[in-house]
Amino acid sequence: MKKFSLYVFIFIVFLYVPIINSAINTENGASLYLDHGCYSCHGYNGSGRHPIANNISGIMSSEALFITFLRLRADLNPLKPSNSMPNYSEAVINDEQAQDLYAYINTLTDNPPQIENIPILKNILDNAIRKTENE
Ligand code: HEC
Repeated sequence: MKKFSLYVFIFIVFLYVPIINSAINTENGASLYLDHGCYSCHGYNGSGRHPIANNISGIMSSEALFITFLRLRADLNPLKPSNSMPNYSEAVINDEQAQDLYAYINTLTDNPPQIENIPILKNILDNAIRKTENE
């Protein structure tokens, strides 16, 4: 019976540990995303000049691939000033931190409202179209 309780306990721990971890990871990932300036090229919600929100990146298809990209694929020594992705060595972002970043990026979504739902913008665009049609 004691053994059975132990198994139940281990089972429960296994059930909850990933949930607890993922909550912590994502928050830390968000800080890392800001601290390392990822937002400057990828936007605060992953919809910047190089979009990575909405799970569109193939590199984000696995954690291992993402970490390899951070270490190897990214530009080792970009000319300054540069828009190319800098290299993040293990000394800069260690594997654990990279996992947190990975978890955070996977939560990023980009759902801009439709133009039809922003009457003032729709009005401006309609007027601009009318103006160009009349020219
Ligand atoms: C100076 C601009 C810049 C910064 C800062 C930057 N990136 Fe990038 N990132 C890029 C560019 C450019 C690409 C696409 C070109 C390439 O493959 O290198 C890219 C590609 C990526 C991709 C793959 C996207 C795809 O198209 O599949 C991921 C994921 C990514 N970056 C994550 C990050 C993270 C995480 C950080 C911060 C630790 C970061 N980037 C910081 C410029 C930047």
